[in-house]
Amino acid sequence: MRAESIVILTGAGISKESGLDTFRDADGIWARHSLEDVATPQGFARDPDLVHAFYNARRHGLSEVVPNPAHAALARLERDWPNRVLIVTQNIDDLHERAGSRDLLHMHGELTKVRCRACGAVTRWLGDLGIGDACTACAAVGTLRPHVVWFGEIPLHMEEIQSALDHCGLFLSIGTSGTVYPAAGFVSAVRARGRARTVELNLEPSDGASLFAETIHGPASSVVPAFVETLLASLE
Ligand code: APR
Repeated sequence: MRAESIVILTGAGISKESGLDTFRDADGIWARHSLEDVATPQGFARDPDLVHAFYNARRHGLSEVVPNPAHAALARLERDWPNRVLIVTQNIDDLHERAGSRDLLHMHGELTKVRCRACGAVTRWLGDLGIGDACTACAAVGTLRPHVVWFGEIPLHMEEIQSALDHCGLFLSIGTSGTVYPAAGFVSAVRARGRARTVELNLEPSDGASLFAETIHGPASSVVPAFVETLLASLE
């Protein structure tokens, strides 16, 4: 097989076996929290304390988890594949980078960063965030928000993602329910070009499973390392 460039879309399912909850499974985050209250600009305007508490708890949770074999396998693929391997993640956790992935775009933002609504600066933030905190760039107070894309907001890095999708020879979708756009539409964009291989790796068939040419179902920590092994073996 010729080593063409690869784009890998990941979602909450890849971090599930590290101990982070998904959103839409029966035990998922949206079963316990109102999406409108904690993941919309309107919810933040209504009750910023509630929103900060939600993301503070999740930021704390990061220190209790580590990358699993699926994250590690993708980092190995980036290292050993002779062409570009870009991970586009919907996840706001930092498990891909902690596993060693470097070519990585967080399209829904990052839990470990905050953004100032006054000066626009994005800065690293590992502790609790509250309405009385000051921006470390412009010193304004009460202007910081989680650097997270909420419902109704535009995902980040879309131009670079679109260009990578336009040129890839293999598109993988791992651990995502295929319900949130624009990510859910990536597979159709890739298939419309008619050339690239498309594979879904998910615990069960996602809502968009029928859009993929190939599907592999099982827990990410076993199906992803096995798939990466097969890809790398195809180089020899
Ligand atoms: N291995 C692989 N897949 C898994 C595993 C696992 N161990 N456990 C669960 N999954 C699958 C589920 O079957 C489901 O299809 O992961 C998927 C998770 O789907 P969602 O909870 O909808 O998460 P995601 O697709 O990442 O959500 C997209 O929605 O709320 C927003 O902004 C949030 O980025 C998020 C976006």
